[in-house]
Formats: sequence, C-alpha cells, structure tokens
Amino acid sequence: MDPAAAAGDPAPDCNVTPYTVTGSVDYQRLVVQFGTEPITPDLIVRLEKLSKLPLHHWLRRGLFYSHRSLNEICDAVETGKGFYLYTGRGASTGSLHLGHLIPLMFTKWLQDAFDVPLVVQLADDEKFFSKGITLEDARAMARENIKDIISVGFSPRNTFIFCDFDYIGTMYPNVARIQKLLTLNQIRSAFGFVGEDNIGKYAYPAIQAAPSFSTSFPHIFGTHTHLHCLIPCAIDQDPFFRLTRHIAPKLRAPKPAVIHSKFLPGLQSARGKMASSDPNDAIFISDSDRIIAKKIRAAVSGAPKTLDELREKGANLEEDVAFQYLCVFDHDDERLERIRQDYSAGRIGTGDVKNILISILTPIVTGLRERRAGADVDGFSAIRPLEFPGADILLASCRNN
Ligand code: TRP
Repeated sequence: MDPAAAAGDPAPDCNVTPYTVTGSVDYQRLVVQFGTEPITPDLIVRLEKLSKLPLHHWLRRGLFYSHRSLNEICDAVETGKGFYLYTGRGASTGSLHLGHLIPLMFTKWLQDAFDVPLVVQLADDEKFFSKGITLEDARAMARENIKDIISVGFSPRNTFIFCDFDYIGTMYPNVARIQKLLTLNQIRSAFGFVGEDNIGKYAYPAIQAAPSFSTSFPHIFGTHTHLHCLIPCAIDQDPFFRLTRHIAPKLRAPKPAVIHSKFLPGLQSARGKMASSDPNDAIFISDSDRIIAKKIRAAVSGAPKTLDELREKGANLEEDVAFQYLCVFDHDDERLERIRQDYSAGRIGTGDVKNILISILTPIVTGLRERRAGADVDGFSAIRPLEFPGADILLASCRNN
C-alpha cells in the first residue's frame, strides 16, 4: 500500500459516503480511511464454529470483508448473552435491485445461523431530505420495498419491519438522547454536509442510529436490558455507525457491531456500485426473465473483441461484470473455479459465461418475485413480541421493574 493509502487518505479518484459513491472503489483503502477492521481468517474460523449453518460463501470469498467489533458478537454468542440484528433501507425506488439485496440476503443467513431477532428500518424520511422525492412517494415506495425485503425469506416469527414515519414515536426518546450527544461539527465532518444543506439531513443520522439500541424496541426487548446489536450493511453506511458507536457509552449501551460488504458492481462497470438511477446499470426484482437476460447480454465484458484475441490472451476477469456476478451468486466453488480457468485462458467466451449467469440468476429472481406476491406487509410491521431464545426473560425483566 502506498503511504497516502496507509495513512487513510481518501483515494483521489474515489469518493465513498452514504450519499455518493464515485470512481473505482479501493476497498482496502476504505478500511484504513474509515478506521474499520478487516475480517481475518481467524475471525472467519470463529464465526464458522459458532454458527448453526455452514459458512456463507460471501465470507469465504471476501464480499463481506470489514467489521467493527464482530469479536464481541462472538463473545455474546459464546456466553449465551445473545444479540440482535439491525439493517435498513432508505426508500428511493419502487423496486430493489440486486445490489440492495446483498446485505439483506446476508442478514437472512446471519439470522438463521444464530437464531436471533431482526429489526429492519425503512427510512422513508431519509431520501425525502436528501433527494428530490415527495413525502407521499417516499412512503409509498417504502411499502413496496417492504415486500421486496420479505421476499428474501424472513420469518414474521422473529422479524420486525418498521417505517420511520409510523414508528418514530416509540424511538423518539432514544432519538432525542442521541441528538443531544451529537454535534453539528461531527455530522458535518462525517457526511460532508455544508451550511446550505437542510436541517433534516443533519437530524436524520440520529434516526438511523436509534435502532442500534435495543431499548428502541420495548415490545421486543423490554426497556431495562441492553442487548448487543450487529448491523450488516454496505461499507458506505459506516459513517452512521461510527458516530453511533462514539456516543453509545454515554447512553450506557454496548457499541453496535457492524459487518460491511463491498458493493455489487453495476452492469456497465465491474468496479463501481450498481445505481438504481440508471435502469441499464441495474437488475431489479421486478424485471422479467426476458429483461434480465437482455441486460446481462449487454453487460460490460472483460473478453477481447475477436475470437483470435480471446484464444491468445484470454479474458480479463477483473473487468468482466458477468464473471464478477458469478463470484457472488454461484454457490458452487468447483464450477466457479472451472469457469475462472477456462475463461481466463480463452477456452470459453463471454457468451458462455453470460449464459451460465442467466441460468443461475433467473431462478433466484423468480423465487423472489413469487414470494413477493404473497408478502404480508402488515404482519411483519405489527407491534408485537418476537419469538427467539431468551425473549421471555427480557420481557419479564421489564414487567418486574
Ligand atoms: N441509509 C440507508 C440507505 O441509504 C438506509 C438504512 C437505514 C440502513 N438504517 C440502516 C442501512 C441500517 C443499513 C443499516 O439506504
């Protein structure tokens, strides 16, 4: 790593904040810049030992690659204290795309692997403040997004999904405590806001922070015990949780742990982040099988232009979107390795790799679409206790006090 990168200076052609991702992302450098920890092989071994499921290939393949105090979550599992999961989505499009699904699918694995409760925040306020979206549209999109989230396969037994506009009252005591502890200067330097930015943007980080504290959910966790929280999210969300961790001790609460993913690249560049603003860059859950195939066939390829060149030089897998997606969505290590060798040696072409990807991705998206059709939004959003080991003890401690 060059000295500027080692010192945590941002890369000159790459900018990553919760509100903008531009350029070719240098993930190792972001770890230094944000002050997070890389996920080490030792930590993966520890997670694998504690998990009730086989290790997720996204940990093995480094898609989830960075964290903050994940060891403390392992300690909480080992000592039987337990933890809960928190993730979220700022509604800005009617349909989620594959990039949005990465943290959600991984959250589903974590939930099953550790048998823990999950809360999902639909920040229907966030993009109202930061993008040109009306309040009515944001709320309507949030409801559509909840269906997409449910389609990932969560169970209403241990999952609570809430919209900020509906749930804010219960969280407000924690929101107010957090707002009092955060200064304008901290928000400015974490998010790069300027004097002209509206104050909704400045106030919102406290609303994204509040679900990191179990006391924001009295119907699930009671009001007297702080349960440890683990937040799966893409690396761009880290500034929110760096601030949240900073103020946690002042609330006498454990600092939330975070596990960060890289971005799923868009169809038009293997190095950036899938953008919902460009329909040709993203594959949406709402896309038909035909559209998905068409979009994949048009994706940027790392293969040379002619067959002769391909046979001579092979394909550049780093620049090949279809191959990068296979690394994410193909579970089969052996098949992936065979494709890697054949494609980089020019024995198969871009059309073959794209066909394999279409055959893997189509059933995944079809499954999502089918589950979405039966999604019970009101059931998941109802204010109710959840079922998980230890739930009765937490709620009883609340009733006794
Ligand atoms: N800020 C996130 C977005 O832009 C939404 C969000 C709210 C979130 N709470 C979260 C993301 C918790 C990850 C974890 O979409």
